[in-house]
Amino acid sequence: MADIIYRPRRTRRSAAMRDLVAQTVIAPRNLVQPLFVVPGSAIARPIEALSGQMHLSPDKAADLAKEIRAAGIPAVLLFGIPPEKDAVGSYAARADAPVQEAVRRIKDAVPELVVICDLCLCEYTDHGHCGVVREDGSVDNDATLPLLMQAAVSQAEAGADVVAPSDMMDGRVSALRRALDETGFIETAILSYAVKYRSAFYGPFREAAGSAPREGDRSTYQMDFRNGREALREARLDVDEGADMLLVKPGMPYLDVLASVRAATDLPVGAYQVSGEYAMLEAAASRGWLDRDMAVTESLYAMRRAGADFIVTYYALEWARRGLCR
Ligand code: PBG
Repeated sequence: MADIIYRPRRTRRSAAMRDLVAQTVIAPRNLVQPLFVVPGSAIARPIEALSGQMHLSPDKAADLAKEIRAAGIPAVLLFGIPPEKDAVGSYAARADAPVQEAVRRIKDAVPELVVICDLCLCEYTDHGHCGVVREDGSVDNDATLPLLMQAAVSQAEAGADVVAPSDMMDGRVSALRRALDETGFIETAILSYAVKYRSAFYGPFREAAGSAPREGDRSTYQMDFRNGREALREARLDVDEGADMLLVKPGMPYLDVLASVRAATDLPVGAYQVSGEYAMLEAAASRGWLDRDMAVTESLYAMRRAGADFIVTYYALEWARRGLCR
């Protein structure tokens, strides 16, 4: 007999024993469902690049929001596809834009559901960049801030509980906090995509939102994936500027970053399992190369274990409904 001092397998012997010692739980209340809102009414059109997800008109978004809440999910994250785009993304700040309309409808239908609005110009600009583009093609940080401020106020006016800047302009959290406070929206929270990498994993989303940059890429404003420490600096800045919650994005390829941001702040921290992560799982599962239920569940637990208080995921509604996150 081997003189084994301690046998870790003792606490793995049965399902109940494993439940007893499990460190991490996921409940529907840890999930956020993203929704893509398009102009019009009675529209629920499948998004080809994101199988299982839909382009929804504001009325349909409100219908789905009821189901999302009924499944125990506390929040939705809204993205908008405007009827037209221009150089400065004017529709981002219009009261009659699809997202603003959807916010009003959702808050009417399910007032207790937390409505988070993604705040960025890339879905609204014809060039597809997240800010104002100068003649030489570069993105003008400080000229972008006032446009984000207007869009945030417009989202708050529509009834958004949270605005979520995902543009990666410097100084935008303090600019947004000031804009919201000065217009009386002192209770509107800011969920900052504090740590957002320039990533190939946003590919399917850009198809869904028609937001791929026409020229160039986002490497002058989104973070370089070779850097980890820089994430802490970005997070600290946003904490100091008044963010209420932080988001790390993408999720699974950046678990190291998520864990270090979690350790560096006491604010709530979320992880975004982005479109490319979803696409990889879906593609492999559809070929029978992965067990879909097990692989997705494991991916969600990985982000929770790394420190995410909540996870933005295209699986939110399905996983909550099917009782797969417990
Ligand atoms: C807007 C934005 C993007 C995503 C969320 N907000 C795209 C981008 O930065 O190009 C990606 C989400 C996903 O891939 O699921 N800036």
